[in-house]
Amino acid sequence: MSCNIAVFGTGYLGATHAACMAHLGHKVIGVDVDTDKLSRLAAGEAPFFEPGLESVLKSAVDSGNLRFTNSYAQAAEFADVHFIAVATPQRRGEFAADLTHVESVIAELAPLLDKPAVILGKSTVPVGTAARLADSVRHLAPAGQAVDVAWNPEFLREGFAVQDTLHPDRIVLGIDRARDGRAEEVARLVYARMIDDGVPFLVTDRETAELSKTAANAFLATKISFINAMAEICDAVGADVTKLADVLGHDSRIGRQFLNAGIGFGGGCLPKDIRALMARAGEVGASQAFTLLREVDSINMRRRLKTAEAAAELAGGSLVGVKVAVLGAAFKPNSDDVRDSPALNIAGQLQLQGAAVSVYDPKACANASKLFPTLHYANDVIGACEAAEVTLVLTEWEEFRRLDPADLSSVVRYRRIIDGRNCLDKEMWRGAGWIYRGIGTP
Ligand code: UGA
Repeated sequence: MSCNIAVFGTGYLGATHAACMAHLGHKVIGVDVDTDKLSRLAAGEAPFFEPGLESVLKSAVDSGNLRFTNSYAQAAEFADVHFIAVATPQRRGEFAADLTHVESVIAELAPLLDKPAVILGKSTVPVGTAARLADSVRHLAPAGQAVDVAWNPEFLREGFAVQDTLHPDRIVLGIDRARDGRAEEVARLVYARMIDDGVPFLVTDRETAELSKTAANAFLATKISFINAMAEICDAVGADVTKLADVLGHDSRIGRQFLNAGIGFGGGCLPKDIRALMARAGEVGASQAFTLLREVDSINMRRRLKTAEAAAELAGGSLVGVKVAVLGAAFKPNSDDVRDSPALNIAGQLQLQGAAVSVYDPKACANASKLFPTLHYANDVIGACEAAEVTLVLTEWEEFRRLDPADLSSVVRYRRIIDGRNCLDKEMWRGAGWIYRGIGTP
């Protein structure tokens, strides 16, 4: 059965969710304040790079199942299921999450709700937010008690957003156990096809659902920092962290995923989510429980410093006037997202230390140049590496993994490479006469 759905926010999360819900056969209206973005989306064009999204988006728009608006009134009149999919970034100068966008959606939408409706929050929020928003919705909405608020966290990864939305590992729904609401019944309709396909559908209280998202990201971050801490030991004793991760990964209780050592995690989610969890734990009187995450964060940030130090060391002790090539600006491959990107952060640090930095990324240069306009951006690998005295691979794009050292040998000034993602074949690079430095690898 088809539902009438509104999705508030058309970023990585909202645009993908709107397109995928329409793909499932629902009638969807995507809502945003950014009219440029809306017109691109309405033309079936993704405003950011996300493999597979554009074809789903285009066919959803062409089928008439998906349209876009900046009018909350239109959305409120049309839909009876409202997804909140706006960003919750880190507050400036604080660890806590900035809920401005979520709160403004509620403030604008709720007074327009004059018929029964279900609001399903997808944005990552501090535990306790859903209950608080539900109170304010009932106060503001003419339909009052006929509006339900539940939390339905999203676990999609950038680069796999469509696949993760249509075939998630699980669907979580946090409902108000004290009320006899319609949220579960409606969510079961929205996700009927996935539930029929066997995707686990877990119904919890709202607080557990909110926490399940931050806990998942905190666990993933902890796994990455754990292996990066092991990389520090490997570096000290000449052991190989990649082999170590392979050994650990064969233990099915541990698993191999998220055990890739390197320059650490970044992006719009993991870093800010662990900080928001620490902040919230403090607010609810459980700060001791999360001193662990402080260490996870500092191990992660240390990777960036250490990589810049390694570049200086390779350059002979100082980066002043040294020409450096940085391959990669996105926080991970198959994404043009540079939010809190370790690659770009390192490129910036190298420049601050006096290096002349030339950056190339297959997709993220446009976004990177907005954030770091003073770095030089090249059009391709060769352009970035011309006369380079040190080359760093900081995002493991397939294009970089497949580089032939022989092709670069005559382009660079000195054959010195730092593999910030342990993604290159070190024997091949060394065999071609390069000084190769990986992370936690002899
Ligand atoms: C992350 C989670 O993986 C998603 O489940 C979640 O829905 C999403 O955040 C979110 O909160 O919206 P994402 O930010 O797209 O997804 O990126 P990840 O694939 O988790 O990678 C995060 C960072 O960790 C990247 O910088 C990546 O390079 C790094 N990473 C990942 C490592 O350094 N080592 C690894 O082994 C894996």
